[in-house]
Amino acid sequence: MKKRIITGVSLTLIFVLIAGILLPILRPDYDGVNFNASDKTNTTDKVIKFNSEGKLKILHITDTHLNLNHKYNFDPTIWLIENACDKEKPDIVMLTGDNVVNCENAEDTKKMINALMNIFDSRGIPVAVTFGNHDSEQGSMTREELMAYYNTFSCSVSVDDGENLSGCGTYNIPVLSSDGENIKFNLWVFDSGDYDKNGKYSCVQSDQIEWYKETSDKLKAENNDEVVNSLVFQHIIVGEIYDALKKSDSWKSYSYKHLYNEDEYYMFNPENTNYGTIRETPCPGYENFGQFEAMVEKGDVLAMFTGHDHTNAFAVNHKGIDIANSLSTRYISLFHSTQCGYRVIEIDENDTSTYETRVERIFDIYDFETAKQERKSGDTATYLIALEFAFKGKIQKFATVVYGKFIESVTDREVTYAD
Ligand SMILES: [Fe+2]
Repeated sequence: MKKRIITGVSLTLIFVLIAGILLPILRPDYDGVNFNASDKTNTTDKVIKFNSEGKLKILHITDTHLNLNHKYNFDPTIWLIENACDKEKPDIVMLTGDNVVNCENAEDTKKMINALMNIFDSRGIPVAVTFGNHDSEQGSMTREELMAYYNTFSCSVSVDDGENLSGCGTYNIPVLSSDGENIKFNLWVFDSGDYDKNGKYSCVQSDQIEWYKETSDKLKAENNDEVVNSLVFQHIIVGEIYDALKKSDSWKSYSYKHLYNEDEYYMFNPENTNYGTIRETPCPGYENFGQFEAMVEKGDVLAMFTGHDHTNAFAVNHKGIDIANSLSTRYISLFHSTQCGYRVIEIDENDTSTYETRVERIFDIYDFETAKQERKSGDTATYLIALEFAFKGKIQKFATVVYGKFIESVTDREVTYAD
């Protein structure tokens, strides 16, 4: 028994050494990245409608944290977004903030935006952008300057809401029926801000909520007085997530401490429909001006999708709305493996009262077979990236199984690794 444990630990250490240090350092730069400014040759259709099969497929990408200083993270993150686009062939991409972070100057920020936006531009995929707490943090570019720059790419369907609303990047995208005749669905995009006056996380402000209510009423009036079903995309989760989770007065395995309230712990509530994994404390804004309640009142939102909490991938139903968080799409290379991936959401125009979604974790997608295929393609950089993903996937799964078994043994609750 002792021998088996020692062998297991040694093998894990060897895997960590290979995947966490050797592969990133040995890896040459991936030359598929396009750092050039928009060449404006793309003519992506700005009108979003259900595709010829009557479906709308959304790719939710969030918290990419692109920054060339994090050299080892940059190439794999770009490559996995490219692969996600090619595999999923989405009708629209939603980028919900912390897209490019910590660049020292506007030139570097633009270079990172180019690398990201060229992925979608070259494939003709429309993209809706909003911002997180980090995008304008360094001060090299304001949110308005960032939005103007994102909009130099023809694939961007983002809107600068102007001076009327707090923040920059609060707008809606009406989705037309496949025949283009009428509005069938709606996508709301909110700038949930960065930090409040006390330095705590921000939230959607009162004026944005008023705008939402008015626009929701307008859409309803134009739709024979029937609500237009919709989804919400923004960076920071709403404070009501803590009402949706189950409260416990003491720490229990698989419970997380409230971000602001002392001695309050929360975990999934099996009684509301939920799925996924919660691995860190949800981080909503400290203040709450009533965005969620306004949406409950209007009755047009099926689900709200956020990022920000990088390792949480779940959906919890509360008052008829799914509060859903998506994994960070940033790959962290050296040593640390985190949950990393993207979310796919599909809506059918024949029944817009519901939607389907799944979370794709990169460690589920890439295995040694993928690496073998990449080796055949002859690109050393992508071969080594795929190999790194495969190695880390093994470590990640091993850790997840061990952790899951531990949680199950102390809580009697089944832990699922699925989304
Ligand atoms: Fe964030």
